[in-house]
Amino acid sequence: MKQENKKNSSYNKIRNNLYANVERHELTERKTFGIVALSALMLASILLFVAAMIETGSKKEYIYVFGDTEQELSEKLAFSDGVQYIDMVALATFCNMESIEKGFAINGTYIKLENGSSLATVNGFNVSLSEKVIIDEKHVLIPIEDAKKLIFGIDIDISGEKTVITATENIYMIAKNVEFDYVTDVSAYLEYINSKDQYISILANKQHSIGEDFSPAKLVEIPKKYRRTDRVLKLDLTAEKALEAMMQDMFALGIDDVCVQSAYRTYAEQQNLFNNYVNSEINKGLSRDEAIANANKYSARPEYSEHRTGLCVDFFVPSCMLELENYGYEGSYPNDVGFTETNAYPWLLKNCWKYGFILRYPEDKVDITGYSYESWHYRFVGLEVASIIHQTGLSYEEYLEIFK
Ligand code: DAL
Ligand code: ZN
Repeated sequence: MKQENKKNSSYNKIRNNLYANVERHELTERKTFGIVALSALMLASILLFVAAMIETGSKKEYIYVFGDTEQELSEKLAFSDGVQYIDMVALATFCNMESIEKGFAINGTYIKLENGSSLATVNGFNVSLSEKVIIDEKHVLIPIEDAKKLIFGIDIDISGEKTVITATENIYMIAKNVEFDYVTDVSAYLEYINSKDQYISILANKQHSIGEDFSPAKLVEIPKKYRRTDRVLKLDLTAEKALEAMMQDMFALGIDDVCVQSAYRTYAEQQNLFNNYVNSEINKGLSRDEAIANANKYSARPEYSEHRTGLCVDFFVPSCMLELENYGYEGSYPNDVGFTETNAYPWLLKNCWKYGFILRYPEDKVDITGYSYESWHYRFVGLEVASIIHQTGLSYEEYLEIFK
């Protein structure tokens, strides 16, 4: 009996325990269910919230203000990898750019863009962009920072709620810091070629007199091998070093019949030269006033001559005198008329900017420079300025007006 009771009591214990366990289990199950349901509800709410945020985000429009016109770009188009883009199609419309194959052109400069490429072509130079170009049916998107760097004459203000684009009349695509090769090792000359010294930007033209007393700070002799005769010719130190690099490369290419026949001139030398031209015009039968006016089309009065700055040279190729006869020239002609017929001329046109030189009196800029075309006269302005002038085709006067 006792045993029976014991049994019962242990049974009850077990049962109670069991029961209690079952109850607890049921309670736990109910609790778990509640928690799971609540969690699921919360998760669903979070997912819904996130989805709503994404939805709202993707619907967010970025406003670009181009004058009177506003363009809306979705975040997907306005941003890629955290980089803000601008639509070149809208910009081109705003700036009256021309649409060309795979790109846009303005004022003789151009940019070419390929979908998915982070390399653009600007005026024939390859330029690395900070991110890839995105092109769809309606848009040609490039990173805003690249647009700012490559397009001169526009301003993009991204500080406010809207991105505001303004433009000047003079817009140019410019490739800066382009990579190119020299013919020989010109490393010893690079510091001069790259010079940004204030002196090398001096302007001497019919509107800008440099006065009677002007003289360059540091003149040095051009080596004899680069001169036409034994007569000493001098240049400003920086221009002379850059000239040496250019001559070294021309000679290495076999263009070694080219030489300098005139460089720095004193006031007195320029005065004599001008007077001689006036006299030769008078000898042709012109009045003194007519003779002066005529001479002034190709020769400068001493106060206005660039030759007095020591920053320019007149090249000469002896063989061009001979070749001129094959082109129907008879009798007397100026020494330098045949320069366009030489090998040096096309090479200089294409390459002189790499050494910081520009063709100073181009054929199509006579009205601006005030002087007739001089295929032989090259002016040192430093690589950066020469590169911009080379890419834009501007005269030095126009460059100073627009870029300074
Ligand atoms: N031939 C140029 C214009 C000069 O005399 O300076
Ligand atoms: Zn000259």
